[in-house]
Amino acid sequence: MNSSPIGVFDSGIGGTTILKSVRKLLPNENYVFFGDSANCPFGTKNIDELKSIVRNATDFLIKKGAKIIIVACNTATTQTIEYLRELYPNIPFVGTEPAVKLACGTGKKMLLLLSTEGTAHSPRTQELIEQNIRPNQQIVNLPCIGLAEAIETTDADRIHECLVKNFKNVEKPEEVDIVILGCTHYPLASEQIKSFFPNASLLDGGDGVARQTQKILSERKLLSPNTESGTVEYFFSKKVK
Ligand code: DGL
Repeated sequence: MNSSPIGVFDSGIGGTTILKSVRKLLPNENYVFFGDSANCPFGTKNIDELKSIVRNATDFLIKKGAKIIIVACNTATTQTIEYLRELYPNIPFVGTEPAVKLACGTGKKMLLLLSTEGTAHSPRTQELIEQNIRPNQQIVNLPCIGLAEAIETTDADRIHECLVKNFKNVEKPEEVDIVILGCTHYPLASEQIKSFFPNASLLDGGDGVARQTQKILSERKLLSPNTESGTVEYFFSKKVK
């Protein structure tokens, strides 16, 4: 038993979608959330920049006493989680990956994977597709330029404009069965995204991350002994203009 907080980080508000899923499953845990808005977007950073960013976020959460760290970001997970695990062997990490396995498991035919450029072009995403796609399925791997940043502004018009630009080349949107939200910011715009794909179901990785966090904490006997609802502390870094 351990009442230290669960650390969660992302490039900004996107990680709150993961936090919400984890809190639903583990309400008595304490949480410390770090949104690295100063470095948003992560999706266009090169690997060395990204490594330095995730190291800083991890150091911050360790200083806050985190007993486990959730990388609430597909971009950082697909490119740096192995690096983090090697660098901090005593800290358990839970990553967030595009829900490709879940989507392919439905057996539906037309899948559209939306993510940042970093996630879309990462070898890990290619691997997830190759490992899970079934013979009758098609997956369109579409990087959404500027979308995480637009969502970060919470400006509905800007988000809509960005969606129009990114989706203009998607053929037969009405035939898309599943849209995989492969960036933790995207569930915050799920209604707007859904309006482009009237017959699709939207999937994200939140519940999987929550279950994995519970599993690791339970195996390591690190679950909180709290019998009441836990606390959440939020920290955001600021962009220097
Ligand atoms: N929310 C993150 C993700 O899941 C990062 C978005 C960004 O900063 O580009 O990929």
